[in-house]
Amino acid sequence: MDIASRPAEPEQNPQTADAAPAPQAPPVIRREDYLPPAWLVPEIALDFDLGLDATKVTSTLSVKRNPEGNGAATLRLNGDQISPVSVRVDGEAASGWRMDGPDLLVELSGDAHEVTIETALVPSGNSQLMGLYASNGMLCTQCEAEGFRRITFFPDRPDVLSTYSVRMSGDKATFPILLANGNCTAEGEGENGTHWAEWYDPWPKPSYLFALVAGELIANHGTFTTKSGRTVDLNVWVRPGDEGRTQHALDSLIASMKWDEETFGREYDLDLFNIVAVSDFNMGAMENKGLNVFNTRYVLADPDTATDADYDAIEGVIGHEYFHNWSGNRVTCRDWFQLSLKEGFTVLRDQLFSADMGSEPVKRIEDVRILRIAQFPEDSGPLAHPIRPDSYQEISNFYTATVYNKGAEVIRMMRTMAGEERFRKGTDLYFDRHDGTAATCEDFVKAIEDGAGLDLAQFRLWYSQAGTPQVAASLTQEDGKAVLTLHQTVPTTPGQPEKQAMPIPLRVALFDRATGTHSGESLVVLDKAEDRFVFADAPADPVLSINRSFSAPVAIEMARPDADLVFLAARDDDPFARYEAMQSLVVQHLVAAVGGGLDEGQRSAGRTAIGEAFRAIVTDAELDDLMRGELMLLPAESYLAEQLLVSDPGAIHAEREGLKAWLGATLADELKALHDRVSAVPYSREAEARGARKVKTQALVYIAAGDGAEGASRGIAQYRAASCMTDRQGALMVLASLDCPEREEALADFLARYEGNALVIDKWFSLQAGSLHPRVLDHVRALAKHPEFRMSNPNRVRSVFMAAAMNPVAFHDPSGEGYRMIGDIIRRLDPINPQTAARFVPSLGRWRRVEPARASLMRAELERIAQESDLSRDVREQVSKSLG
Ligand code: ARG
Ligand code: ZN
Repeated sequence: MDIASRPAEPEQNPQTADAAPAPQAPPVIRREDYLPPAWLVPEIALDFDLGLDATKVTSTLSVKRNPEGNGAATLRLNGDQISPVSVRVDGEAASGWRMDGPDLLVELSGDAHEVTIETALVPSGNSQLMGLYASNGMLCTQCEAEGFRRITFFPDRPDVLSTYSVRMSGDKATFPILLANGNCTAEGEGENGTHWAEWYDPWPKPSYLFALVAGELIANHGTFTTKSGRTVDLNVWVRPGDEGRTQHALDSLIASMKWDEETFGREYDLDLFNIVAVSDFNMGAMENKGLNVFNTRYVLADPDTATDADYDAIEGVIGHEYFHNWSGNRVTCRDWFQLSLKEGFTVLRDQLFSADMGSEPVKRIEDVRILRIAQFPEDSGPLAHPIRPDSYQEISNFYTATVYNKGAEVIRMMRTMAGEERFRKGTDLYFDRHDGTAATCEDFVKAIEDGAGLDLAQFRLWYSQAGTPQVAASLTQEDGKAVLTLHQTVPTTPGQPEKQAMPIPLRVALFDRATGTHSGESLVVLDKAEDRFVFADAPADPVLSINRSFSAPVAIEMARPDADLVFLAARDDDPFARYEAMQSLVVQHLVAAVGGGLDEGQRSAGRTAIGEAFRAIVTDAELDDLMRGELMLLPAESYLAEQLLVSDPGAIHAEREGLKAWLGATLADELKALHDRVSAVPYSREAEARGARKVKTQALVYIAAGDGAEGASRGIAQYRAASCMTDRQGALMVLASLDCPEREEALADFLARYEGNALVIDKWFSLQAGSLHPRVLDHVRALAKHPEFRMSNPNRVRSVFMAAAMNPVAFHDPSGEGYRMIGDIIRRLDPINPQTAARFVPSLGRWRRVEPARASLMRAELERIAQESDLSRDVREQVSKSLG
């Protein structure tokens, strides 16, 4: 059956069957409704007769009644846009089966049976990229969360664990390489130029971890010897021609394997570990057992085509997927409400890994920046949900910054409170207790509680309450002692009007103004609405450094004299706190300026304070350049908008750009000297050279803001002299925002130079769609018509439209054209790839926090989408929640 054409599904809601286009609300799945499966599937054998346009699947399930189930005689097997070609029970053609909507129900008489089902798929017609699909001439699968049901009928839920035997055969010329989970146990030649392979994975796993890849691939091969002395074969598989860009991925894999042994005591458990890069992929990568499938952008790198940031992202994602082998695969999730069990924990693990591989403070700053840009707005908007959600309509919509990044912050807080050693005892106990099972977030918390010896009773609120806690802080002097008063509020979020006080661990230090030192950091835990903490031996009139290294994912509210922030920006010994002080200084100023609360005198005083701190950062010879690059970043516009209940994106942009231009002009000499110094550093992958490159483009950004002509001439010089993608992309980014002939020269050169390299052409698209050029909307429209634009490729779609949606100039154009553009792409993409289409909805969903004129335009776009009768569950859920 054609997987791309929807079969006529029985109406799910007979009452509305006749009522014309009134969109049906998809059913709501609730966490509290969890029931154990009625049937288990200890073993499954899959046989694939492969073809790009037609693949036949024969699946044999050994099913067994679950003693903990409800005893039902009916076996429910989930399906999605597939229909059975045949159904047999214990080898006999079965009559006792029927369809229930997309699902197949089989009546069974005994306690154990063998059910064999044939399905027919059209991989080349599968544009959703879930299930089995064709990408760039090869076949691959994506099954998390519910893609396996697009391949065959199965109880497609993560608490049904099976051992998989896979046989596949296909044309040898089209599919010279045949891969699945586990180990290859046999292979051979067939008739008519076909060949076959058999794979067996000894580790029971849920269906979402199944994977198959077939195609013309070439491997960069390596080995790793585990701590107990087993040799593991490693392969990074790519399309021929890409093999020269795989070494960093392979090195990152080896580093991950070693790090997980040393840091978490986790050893790899198969003799083979395969990574495959595919060019059409909805997300970043996928941790299928022994066969990780990656978006090419998180595999392929060489200095000419990948930036330093790309290298870091590859290392992080390779680590992330590898670490899932324990946090996700050996211990998996009971149901999808527990997603943060594996994702939050695995993000924390990849963050700690990257910190150990590079600079810990720089990594921390980057992670907090991502949290604030991506997660804080989620937490304060219509789609806010706890890290362990209570309900969903479409689980794909819950692969969010909240589940992933806030989930990681929540576990990091446990680690902070326990200390590293005791935290490790907790994770050891967790892996020990739950190995081979499908666990819950509660199981994790309990294991940390028992293993680390913490009382986490109240802490569990972090799993159930959504919203970013706001902590008001004030420091007073009483009887010669410093008193820190903290008051917390957790904002109301959809479905959660009342909130309880949460335990908030805050690292605190009190600085002596005279000496610039403090007498030690303390950890205070605010676990009431309000509390006071007395510091007996604090210096007189100290400067407060709070939430150091971002010990809690909260917003601190405290009006502070600029002088205190300038002091901390220059002297705090916690590098994160230095960054934070600089950010606060700028946020405080810009928020006041946007609110119209600054007269000319105050504005100039504010700028002077910022300029002074900025000059210190630009010229500090002690500072390493990687850190300098972080400190030079102004807070993102979306983060500034977060500080206001309702904001005017135009005003925020104008004020922030105004400050940037002022800094660029005021510190022109220092910035040019910096740009000259770092431009002389030769290319290497060492931290010093990477720092130089980071600062090079940062300096250029400010120089161009202060003086467009100087920016254009330095920009094109940096572009022409570039010996690596970091410098070339950095220069092009700056030039793309300028209206000058150098812009056209560089864009044309870049396109010609990298013709045929999809990942680099993505950069060419996104730099233009993300630019601050006054005609950026015209540029985006032209890019969407460019011959290299592809609606079927998520990377390409994102390179144009996600870049535009995140670009305040394009998106928030007062005409509403930006909103219209994003509304259009959602409607056009939804029938092709609903998962990717739904990712664009949250940008429009922020309308309540935007000034009224724009808000009504944003809302109108959402309503226009809601009118569509055939919306996917994905987009329907996001749009109705955003309007509701
Ligand atoms: N488990 C993958 C990861 O975080 C993400 C897969 C998400 N897939 C999806 N269709 N939502 O590494
Ligand atoms: Zn993950």
